[in-house]
Amino acid sequence: MRLLKKFRKNELDTFYLRKLFKQFYDIEIGPYSYGGCFDVYNIAPGTKIGKFCSFASGVMVISTNHDPTKITTHPFLFKPYLGVVKEDFRVVRNVHIGNDVWIGQNAIILPSVSSIGDGAVIGAGAVVTKDVPPYAIAVGAPARVIKYRFDQPTIDNLLETKWWDWSEKKIFENWQDFLDPGKFSKHFLKVNYHEIEKKSIR
Ligand SMILES: CC(C)(COP(=O)(O)OP(=O)(O)OC[C@H]1O[C@@H](n2cnc3c(N)ncnc32)[C@H](O)[C@@H]1OP(=O)(O)O)[C@@H](O)C(=O)NCCC(=O)NCCS
Repeated sequence: MRLLKKFRKNELDTFYLRKLFKQFYDIEIGPYSYGGCFDVYNIAPGTKIGKFCSFASGVMVISTNHDPTKITTHPFLFKPYLGVVKEDFRVVRNVHIGNDVWIGQNAIILPSVSSIGDGAVIGAGAVVTKDVPPYAIAVGAPARVIKYRFDQPTIDNLLETKWWDWSEKKIFENWQDFLDPGKFSKHFLKVNYHEIEKKSIR
């Protein structure tokens, strides 16, 4: 079980990093999530990220706007350290990114987003302005859902199964089933997997 050992080592390596991120930056990153989520300059404090997420580089999660309704959008009106105001009154919107989410290169998640569902895929360069449902594939600026990874009964059953919460032993020992949705559904889901039509729904 060399693979399992390798994952264990990495998990151990990043355990302290995850703790530091939570403690000092208020960013929660679940086990096995990796990549651009560990970039404190790009990920807003208050962001929660589930397990097994893949973040490409340059992904940005933004939680606040400057306020265009004031006379100036300059931060002297909201950054206390600039010495003018005592409090930052802006609305902060935190986003919860589910499990098994893949976010492509340079995607931007704006403060209007509160949730990216389990299993979602965000295309490279997307500008996400709305919540993304579980297992949706969203692309473009503004991002639109173009298709889903699986049919709805399979999605519902995957969400119920919550494989990401299984023991690492169960996940990694069954890696071959993860390669084959047909086998996975036979062994672990209540529904039969049907390949959905590979057509965009825009
Ligand atoms: C989102 C993504 C996974 C979709 O891949 P796919 O399912 O193979 O989709 P397709 O290539 O069949 O494209 C479907 C449609 O979406 C469009 N599209 C795909 N990705 C897009 C993107 N990132 N931005 C805008 N439009 C995109 C295609 O042009 C196509 O449009 P059409 O139906 O009008 O012809 C992929 O395009 C992507 O962006 N991957 C991210 C890659 C990356 O950042 N990797 C970093 C390393 S982790």
